[in-house]
Amino acid sequence: MATIKKLKKAFRCQQCGYETGKWLGKCSDCGAWGSLIEELITPTSLTDRPILSGEKPQPISKIKSIDKERVSTGIGELDRIMGGGIVAGSATLIGGDPGIGKSTLILQVSGKLCDAGKKVLYVSAEESIYQTKIRAERLGINSENLLIVSETNLEIIGGYVEEYNPDFLIIDSIQMVYKPQLPGTPGTVTQVRESTLELMYLAKRKSIALFLIGHVTKEGSLAGPRTLEHMVDTVLYFEGDRFQSFRILRAVKNRFGSTNEIGLFDMDKEGLQEVTNPSALFIGDHDDNSAGKVVMPTIIGTRPLLVEIQALTAPSFYSVPSRRVSGVDFNRVLMILAVLERRIGLSFSNQDVFVNVVGGVKIDEPAADLAIALAIVSSIKNKPISNETVMVGEIGLTGEVRGVNQINQRVNETQRLGFKYIMMPLKNTKGLNHAPELTLVKICSLREAISKSQLIAFRKDLDPAEK
Ligand SMILES: Nc1ncnc2c1ncn2[C@@H]1O[C@H](COP(=O)(O)OP(=O)(O)O)[C@@H](O)[C@H]1O
Ligand SMILES: [Mg+2]
Repeated sequence: MATIKKLKKAFRCQQCGYETGKWLGKCSDCGAWGSLIEELITPTSLTDRPILSGEKPQPISKIKSIDKERVSTGIGELDRIMGGGIVAGSATLIGGDPGIGKSTLILQVSGKLCDAGKKVLYVSAEESIYQTKIRAERLGINSENLLIVSETNLEIIGGYVEEYNPDFLIIDSIQMVYKPQLPGTPGTVTQVRESTLELMYLAKRKSIALFLIGHVTKEGSLAGPRTLEHMVDTVLYFEGDRFQSFRILRAVKNRFGSTNEIGLFDMDKEGLQEVTNPSALFIGDHDDNSAGKVVMPTIIGTRPLLVEIQALTAPSFYSVPSRRVSGVDFNRVLMILAVLERRIGLSFSNQDVFVNVVGGVKIDEPAADLAIALAIVSSIKNKPISNETVMVGEIGLTGEVRGVNQINQRVNETQRLGFKYIMMPLKNTKGLNHAPELTLVKICSLREAISKSQLIAFRKDLDPAEK
């Protein structure tokens, strides 16, 4: 009875965890609409919280570096986005749409870790152990070190961790786990937050690396409290088109490495395979000579990647023409359209404009400006750009083309994939080493870029004087 008395009714935002006594249509904290749901809340006092490590303050010089304790996942693409491997005692959240391959990935990682002699406790809160077994058979995983249990009660899971002392703990998924002392069904903010907190304390205390699988909402963010992302050390999103086989794993938060990295996988019946030559994946049909597409060498994280930018301009039937953009920054495209109108004299006032990056990659660097601009020009003039050319450069408001960073990496990747021309800012060409087969097309302005691309459109014989 005593516990029931302690409960109070309150409304809690399912997005950010904000708590209020009265119902509101809009959360006053995060601004989400219709996100407040009535919950029974137990006021938690500080004494209810477990102790994180129990250690006394110590000089930083005495603390040993954790870098040596990284454990390789056995999957190169995953190691890279995690900053070189898994850190003991860390918590990683993997989010993604249903069916994207979260359970597959984590089971494959478990298999590799067990092969390396580690002990893994895989808590399957959604599927029975037999369903997991079927998947493991398909993936060729069979190890004594891999312990599988189907459980949702946090108390019991905690008991198993104490009993079996695994090196890695996997919870698939956190939305299905519940703490019996708390009110509310699994998946509510209170349950998800408290369960995560308790698992994290347990993992940190016992130096277990924790992996949580999380569901995403229709809008694409992690279901449950936004605070979940702040609590864990690493947040990875698994993205990709379910109708296509390749998948992108992206780090959106990483306390132990860069967040710009992406990992690329291909899904087949033996599970997720690493993509070894990613540039080839993002370039559309090489022999297709249609207008409106330009290949650009971008840098994602630490890796150069050739991607194809496509543009389409079409007469608009509305008084306000539409602009649709995916994969590049919307405002950047508006700026490029304005520069093309004012500095080049093209008109888009009666044209719908669509810009897309092939393969679902997101590019957020201004070095893509030149490729976007030329794809738009190529579409509106209906003149294809030669498929042997790549373009890179940042466009300024006066129509000048500015230098970009990491040019050597971009040029090397371009050469490796056998492209013949790279159109790039003049400033970047000084002291640049490149293979004789690659011709540098040096430009200073957008106007110059358009006139020189007239030369390389269709034709492969660029005037040698340009070199
Ligand atoms: N026999 C199979 N052959 C090829 N792909 C399969 C097979 N069985 C399942 N898959 C793939 O695995 C995906 C399910 O992956 P899963 O790891 O369960 O996703 P999640 O845990 O993210 O919901 C399916 O969408 C499908 O693409
Ligand atoms: Mg799953």
